[in-house]
Amino acid sequence: MTLPFLVLILSSNLTPLLSMETMKEAMKLFSEASRRNKGPIGDVLQELLTEPGLVLEVGSGTGQHAVAFSHRFPHLTWQPTNAGGPDTLKSVAAYREEADLPNLRAPQSFDLFDDLSTVEAEDRFGADQIVAIVAINVIHIAPADAIDHLFRHADHLLPASGILFLYGPFRHPDRPLEPSNEQFHRFLQNRDPRSGIRDLTLVDEIASRSGFTRAGIQRLPANNDALWYQRDTRSQAH
Ligand SMILES: C[S@@+](CC[C@H](N)C(=O)[O-])C[C@H]1O[C@@H](n2cnc3c(N)ncnc32)[C@H](O)[C@@H]1O
Repeated sequence: MTLPFLVLILSSNLTPLLSMETMKEAMKLFSEASRRNKGPIGDVLQELLTEPGLVLEVGSGTGQHAVAFSHRFPHLTWQPTNAGGPDTLKSVAAYREEADLPNLRAPQSFDLFDDLSTVEAEDRFGADQIVAIVAINVIHIAPADAIDHLFRHADHLLPASGILFLYGPFRHPDRPLEPSNEQFHRFLQNRDPRSGIRDLTLVDEIASRSGFTRAGIQRLPANNDALWYQRDTRSQAH
């Protein structure tokens, strides 16, 4: 028997030996940063998301935050989303299945550049009122235009009291970027010139174009910030 033929027989016989559990485990991507930052980010969210409601998470990545926060905040329903290929959606689905939490929804595909009419938003996220949009470590990865889209989605989807929450590294107007973040910024730009650490002032300006104002900022470990935006009360009521 020739070697390739033997390999073919062996591999076709081995495939069923991989249990469903092993395959699901293999789908779970892992982010060390998410493991470390879920506690401090959760502490900020705990103060902000006190009322029950649906939270739309943009760029859920592995799904570790979605599981951690739906476990920590049973009064919220968590809707994870991801842009791009199926790997991250499969990862979130695998974490979700393992966690088996009633308030964690199945992940949906969502790119910030998607055009979401009300009907499409309901098709994807259901008719429940979204009370907050959460984007953790997203806007320095997505192209800069995505920030504008993010705030326009927030304007479209959030009620008057809704919160848009961002977490990540930011360039502050009153001080130079920390050396570790400057290095990270260069790494991001070398990988994709459309990525990069954003100016806080620019994010605030973009927010104000959609009628939002920064309601708070909190310094978190590893030179990251949590920022949250709410509708500018001077802009028209929703
Ligand atoms: C560094 S990962 C962060 C993932 C996760 N939030 C975390 O903190 O572990 C960046 C995320 O941004 C998402 N992303 C990048 N461009 C995007 C876009 N245009 N629309 C929506 N999400 C985007 C990626 O899919 C990815 O999930």
